[in-house]
Amino acid sequence: MDHFLYRDGVLHAEDVPVPEIAAQVGTPFYCYSTATLQRHFRLFDEALDPLEHLVCFAMKSNSNQAILKTLAAMGAGMDVVSGGEYARAKSAGVPGERIVFSGVGKTAEEMRAALEGGIRQFNVESEPEMEVLNAVALSIGARAPITLRINPDVDAKTHAKIATGKSENKFGIPIARAREVYARAAALPGLEVIGIDVHIGSQLTELEPFEQAYRKVAELTAVLRADGHDIRRLDLGGGLGIPYARSNTAPPLPSEYGELIKRTVGDLGCEVEIEPGRLISGNAGIMVSSVIYVKNGEGRDFLILDGAMNDLIRPSMYDAHHDIVAVQEPEAGSEQVPFDIVGPVCESGDTFAKQRNMPVLTAGDMVAFRSAGAYGAVMSSEYNTRPLIPEVLVNGDQFSVIRARPTFDEMIARDNIPEWLL
Ligand code: LLP
Repeated sequence: MDHFLYRDGVLHAEDVPVPEIAAQVGTPFYCYSTATLQRHFRLFDEALDPLEHLVCFAMKSNSNQAILKTLAAMGAGMDVVSGGEYARAKSAGVPGERIVFSGVGKTAEEMRAALEGGIRQFNVESEPEMEVLNAVALSIGARAPITLRINPDVDAKTHAKIATGKSENKFGIPIARAREVYARAAALPGLEVIGIDVHIGSQLTELEPFEQAYRKVAELTAVLRADGHDIRRLDLGGGLGIPYARSNTAPPLPSEYGELIKRTVGDLGCEVEIEPGRLISGNAGIMVSSVIYVKNGEGRDFLILDGAMNDLIRPSMYDAHHDIVAVQEPEAGSEQVPFDIVGPVCESGDTFAKQRNMPVLTAGDMVAFRSAGAYGAVMSSEYNTRPLIPEVLVNGDQFSVIRARPTFDEMIARDNIPEWLL
């Protein structure tokens, strides 16, 4: 459920008519709903009650500081995957003890910054990383709390580019080698082994792969405890999917996911962490774009928008479907016609949808891409020297620009011309 609904014939973000925002910031832009973010965070938080738990928002899905602050105010932790994300979380006021550091390629500099600034735990993904973290911790007289990310070799049944839990993926330590690697970690004086981490992929629409993975985690907990490790925290990753198309059957609810967690690992006496990104931010955002031209091609008509693949890359990168709706509500029973919906970038891949049934639209009309709050703005680029588009946060009847569109001058001024060209 989200808070982008038609009211009085026009799409609203909570209580704000979308055209009102467009009139102030221009199109294209991202627009997020506070109430939706809060609702989704609360669903996860309540789903894990009464277990001792922390929901760490995977801020790779949306790292605007206003979003982070909104969630942190509700008690959210953050899952970060880079020094930049760590710095962003801190700058948004998230305390170090609520920040988890994930990722396969943490550098020594990133580790040091996190140890010095405060960190809940590192989710370590390989033996070389373990050795480097040990050395960094010892060099500053610290002891780094760690879990080891285990690759459970389960099929997440999702798009190949976002599946991470099979043995052929680059992520984690093969479960068959877990005992050996935990023994090595326990022998390193700069590390404190506190738990196990697992994440099998993103946009999972069934619970069964989670169930398989979490059962393996439960078994491994018993084995590692018998080996003398004090396993007291389980990080179960993110990955629960969202309905991208209204017509799809809905993926499992956070409450069902919570029940599964309690059923599989709930009686181990461990504190539980999860790292959802998409399910918190995805349906909390839309991308609003205007039609520049309606072009009649041979056998097909194109809606050429002012938004493009550089603003929302998911359709060209993952063949992802986003529902696209007209901002002015079409009258009930009005005509629908098929369009190819494209952006202005000079690549055929700059296509959002092919032969999508839409109301009859003309230049200047606005459309909204639904479910664009996760992996939208964060994956955008300035390809074709198109400025990053603004982000707006709505809260009830108020809205605020939480990232402004840069001017051409600001973009151009970032280049430096070497002396010999002056
Ligand atoms: N934890 C770890 C270790 C992850 O790698 C990810 C996502 C998450 C948590 C959050 O997963 P979520 O709950 O959002 O599914 N750009 C792609 C998605 C990449 C996901 C990468 N890892 C897309 O647009 O579909």
